[in-house]
Amino acid sequence: MKNFVIHFIAGARPNFMKIAPIIKEMEKIRRGAMGDGGKQTKVNWGDRNLQVRIVHTGQHYDGNMSEIFFRELGIPAPDYNLEVGSGSHAEQTARVMVAFEKVILGDRPDLVVVVGDVNSTIACSLTAKKLGIRVAHVEAGLRSFDMDMPEEINRILTDRISDLLFVTEESGIRNLKNEGVPDDRVHFVGNVMIDTLLRNLERIETGEWQPSDEVLELFCGIEEYAVLTLHRPSNVDREETFAPLWRAISDVGRRIPIIFPVHPRTRGKMEEFGLLVGNVRAIEPVGYMDMLWAVRGAKMVLTDSGGLQEETTVLGVPCITIRENTERPSTVEIGTNHLAGTDPEKIVSIAEKILEGKGKKSGIPPLWDGKAAERIVEILTESLGV
Ligand code: UD1
Repeated sequence: MKNFVIHFIAGARPNFMKIAPIIKEMEKIRRGAMGDGGKQTKVNWGDRNLQVRIVHTGQHYDGNMSEIFFRELGIPAPDYNLEVGSGSHAEQTARVMVAFEKVILGDRPDLVVVVGDVNSTIACSLTAKKLGIRVAHVEAGLRSFDMDMPEEINRILTDRISDLLFVTEESGIRNLKNEGVPDDRVHFVGNVMIDTLLRNLERIETGEWQPSDEVLELFCGIEEYAVLTLHRPSNVDREETFAPLWRAISDVGRRIPIIFPVHPRTRGKMEEFGLLVGNVRAIEPVGYMDMLWAVRGAKMVLTDSGGLQEETTVLGVPCITIRENTERPSTVEIGTNHLAGTDPEKIVSIAEKILEGKGKKSGIPPLWDGKAAERIVEILTESLGV
């Protein structure tokens, strides 16, 4: 019997919500292939067996940056944990490569699926490709055109060596075409992050999931609030940049309470630069469900994250993106995203506009319909089905 093995890579927080719906869909196909009440595909599995293995690189390792996401999103425990931890870019990328190479040599997967744009994404694609293993990239084609951003380097290199490229928005198709990627490798499938959002929004709306007492207490007595996240090195690593941004945020905080789950990188930098939380309510990083619950009810979100730009668009919550560019232009063209840049005055003036009810109204980008993982798995299994 031929065994087909697929590795799914997850390393850092934003990866977990992207693999969750694909793993679920994959499991249905696997059960179908085994005649076990799952979903059949066009592929006749015959006596072939499909094995799904999850590889956690350990890029993020704190419980509230990793384990809670596996638990809340029902992702099975990883089959391998490379436990690479933190380090410089070279150290982290190299450690993932060395450790993942050993896993590949033992397991000989037929396909490696990577998501997003973190160091684990490029490290695992590069390792697999050099061992002659096919690579599929979920969330391909996004470009900020800003090579100072480590993620932009990761995106370009991963796309360049991937065999299957799954694209979330129309700009991705254009970008890949401009870079000369052959059309037959590119599949416009929608957004797996939104699959996860829609599935879990339903859990909140039906009352199947409720926030913990701790979270409810935090929001107690607040009618309107904003949510803030900030962790990008270009914003927080240097005091000359972070301090004026923080003054703008504090200014907004005088007009509306701000809830701020603080990324470990940012917490360290705030301590180093002596930035006081002041009127901003700083809390530890929260899990996926608490964050979704908080963002869904927010008057606005201020962020430098990639994923939140997309999530706020689907939730219809105005978003102020504290960056000069975005690799997700559909959130600005169609959605609720205001690309503010890092000018403190501009951030405050957009926040004021939103508070006056003049924030952008949302449309939903094409194929952000909760079915991206289904489309991806159909294509993955067909590509394996020899
Ligand atoms: C990484 C991704 C970024 C993503 C972000 C989401 C890259 C290049 N960057 O950035 O695209 O938006 O994750 O969070 O891959 N730390 C902990 N505990 C953890 C993880 C990190 O304390 O579980 C601290 C360490 O001090 C570490 C620092 O956070 O040095 C940064 O972590 P790292 O994985 O290097 O990058 P992020 O800033 O998290």
